[in-house]
Formats: sequence, C-alpha cells, structure tokens
Amino acid sequence: MKAIAINGSPRRGWNTEKLLKEALRGAESVGAETKLVQLYDLNYTGCRSCFACKRQGAESYHCAFKDGLTPVLEEIFNADVLFLGSPIYFGDITGQMVSFIERLGFPLLSYDDYTKRLFDGKINAALFLTMNAPEAFYKSNMEQSLKNRAEILQRLGVTVEVYAACDTYQFSDYSKYHSGMLDEVHKRKVREEQFPKDMEAAYEIGRKLTSFE
Ligand SMILES: Cc1cc2nc3c(=O)[nH]c(=O)nc-3n(C[C@H](O)[C@H](O)[C@H](O)COP(=O)(O)O)c2cc1C
Repeated sequence: MKAIAINGSPRRGWNTEKLLKEALRGAESVGAETKLVQLYDLNYTGCRSCFACKRQGAESYHCAFKDGLTPVLEEIFNADVLFLGSPIYFGDITGQMVSFIERLGFPLLSYDDYTKRLFDGKINAALFLTMNAPEAFYKSNMEQSLKNRAEILQRLGVTVEVYAACDTYQFSDYSKYHSGMLDEVHKRKVREEQFPKDMEAAYEIGRKLTSFE
C-alpha cells in the first residue's frame, strides 16, 4: 500500500503541509508506505496542449511531456492513495496545483467518450484546502467551485474527498505585518481550538481512504 501527498503550498511546515502530514500519518497507521512531494521544488509547467495523450495509439492516461513532474506522475499511478493539498489564493487552488492537475487530469480524459474511464486501477484521493476565509464564507462562495476542481480526480478511483480548513493562522507574529483586517486574537483561538480538529480530520481521511481492499 502506498500513499503520496502533494503539497501545493510554497510554505514548508505551514497549514497545508501540516494537514498533508496528518493524512500520511493516518495512511501509515494502516500500513501504507508514504511520500510527501513539494510541488514548489519541481520545475514543470501545466498542460502544453501537445495532444500526445489523445493521439491514436498513445499510451493511455500518461502525460507524454517530460519535465520535473514526470517522475511524480508515474509514482502516482503506482500508488493506492493520493492526497493533494493547496492553500486558497484568490478564491482558487494555487497556480502550481492548477498546473499539476492539468498534467495529471487531461490524459485521464477520453475524447472518444467522456464517460469512459481510461485508468482501470483504483486510487482514492483527497483534496485538502486551507484558507483565511471563515467556514461560512467558504460554504457559500467557494465550496462548489473547489469541489469542481477535484472532480477530475474521480477518474482515478472511487472515492474523492474535499476537506477545507478555514480561518487559518497566517503569520508567526501578526504584530510584524500590516494585518489590520485580521483579528489576531480570533485567529489564535481558531489555531488552538479548530486547527487541531482539522488535523484529526485529515488523519481520519488518510486512514479511511487507505483502508480499502
Ligand atoms: C497570494 C495569496 C492569496 C490568498 N488568497 C486568499 C483567498 O482568496 N481567500 C482566502 O481565504 N485566503 C487567501 N489567502 C490565505 C491563504 O489561503 C491561507 O493563509 C492558507 O492557509 C495558507 O496556506 P499555508 O499556510 O499552507 O501556506 C491567500 C494567501 C496568499 C499568499
């Protein structure tokens, strides 16, 4: 059993990576071998629209374009569980994560039949989101579009979960930054009371998605 986590945040050790590490710990608790990939360390681009994956006789569901993402994409197809993590930047996942999903997702899509699954394996997947916005704002303004972002992952397997950790703590010392719109006392309370629950939820998702036959 193998679980791979892809960190779409440039910040090491912050909210997104913390959730991903918990998901990996959950996967480890049921015996998975785990790996964490830092997207911002890789040299790659989004889909180049070369259409090599749509050519007659193309190797099904593999991106033919070779760059820093190639070995990661290959590893994913040999894994059992995939955890993606991204902060929200301007209401969406980060640019690096968008590019990653283009490269993973476009070859999974058949232009002969949109309903056809090209990948016949089974890789459960989860998308972990972290954001400054409070949960109510996420639910009313962002949840649906971000679930749409994760939809392509359904072509990998049967279960795709989206989990949002809201109202995250952004700076190690709020007094050093222009942050008048942010209530540091409230943020600290969320970090101390809610974020540990988000970590527990990530662990549980990691454990659950890895526990399949
Ligand atoms: C460039 C940029 C844009 C952001 N845009 C949003 C946004 O639109 N909505 C939001 O809720 N948070 C936004 N944030 C806050 C981050 O999503 C939030 O702090 C997140 O938890 C950071 O993840 P990290 O700690 O793993 O880096 C933005 C942060 C940055 C740096």
